[in-house]
Amino acid sequence: MKEIKLDIYFAKSFLDRGDLVAIPTETVYGLAANAFNKEAVEKIYELKQRPKNNPLIIHCHSIEQIKQFVTEIPKDAYELANQFWPGPLTILLKKNELIPDYITAGSDYAAFRIPNHPITLELLKQLDYPLVAPSANPSNRISPTKAIHVYDYFKSTIPYILDGGDCNEGIESTIIHFKNNKPKILRPGSITFQQLFYVTPSITLEQDENDSPPAPGMFKKHYSPTSPFKVVEKIDHEIIHKSKSENSKIAIITCKKENLSIQGIDFYAYSDKGDLNQIAANLYDTLITIDAKNYDLIISELAPEVGKGIAINNRLKRAQNF
Ligand code: TXA
Ligand code: MG
Repeated sequence: MKEIKLDIYFAKSFLDRGDLVAIPTETVYGLAANAFNKEAVEKIYELKQRPKNNPLIIHCHSIEQIKQFVTEIPKDAYELANQFWPGPLTILLKKNELIPDYITAGSDYAAFRIPNHPITLELLKQLDYPLVAPSANPSNRISPTKAIHVYDYFKSTIPYILDGGDCNEGIESTIIHFKNNKPKILRPGSITFQQLFYVTPSITLEQDENDSPPAPGMFKKHYSPTSPFKVVEKIDHEIIHKSKSENSKIAIITCKKENLSIQGIDFYAYSDKGDLNQIAANLYDTLITIDAKNYDLIISELAPEVGKGIAINNRLKRAQNF
């Protein structure tokens, strides 16, 4: 406990003076700055090479704190917040004048979340300001779920990495919006549609036909390995033999351990038994680790399209790069 106090003390002193700190959350590591320090927030965009029109999530320690920054919290949003915060849910709310436009890329709506990680929650309580934090990866790379992933991406260009261990959830928060007071999922994530539906049955997942992407992060291709990467519904013999004839160094990732062995192909699995929570928790670490081995081709199986599998598949499909 003494060491954690010291870590939080260091993190706070860096943030207070306008430096960036990588913070652990239950979903992925974030690259955090004082939301009210414009120069500090600009450092996030610069370091991540993130387009300026891609807004940032504001991380707070309580609903009371969030109330200071919004014009209202719709009833359904309040119920969802009560149910799932602290936790992997991000809610877009109409901001008031205290939230600067440089956080929301000019939008009247700001994204809020109370993360469920003991160290980061304690840090947030000790600060006089909320933290903006995108995932701590260079734009278009895979989100980090371990402190070492953050270090490997940025080395010492991030002044301080607050090590909170591995992220339990492993995929980013679910983002919801209340257009015309109707809740809608903008980004599937750790909290499933079923969990949200149970609290607010009017919630929808589908993108309207004529909706433009609500934010650049929602564009089709996003998180990618650097090696050629493709996804398939199911790994079968045809896929294995076709890819083997065209490539020399191949990795195949299945959802659960399959005990497959074919010369010239390395097999990996996201989980032992196919449990969706375990697949989500291991997803990014598996991809980052395999990507570092310079394969000619990485083929990943998709998860069953239910529950958390929807968010897992959303990430896998968007990671395809050819
Ligand atoms: O789990 C998470 O949400 C992690 C941890 C660190 O909290 N954060 C995260 O941030 O995934 P980021 O920036 O990598 O993804 C946030 C997404 C982006 O696609 C961004 O465009 C969208 O949220 N977003 C943020 N603020 C928004 C706003 N005001 N309106 C619409 N979309 C917004
Ligand atoms: Mg991200």
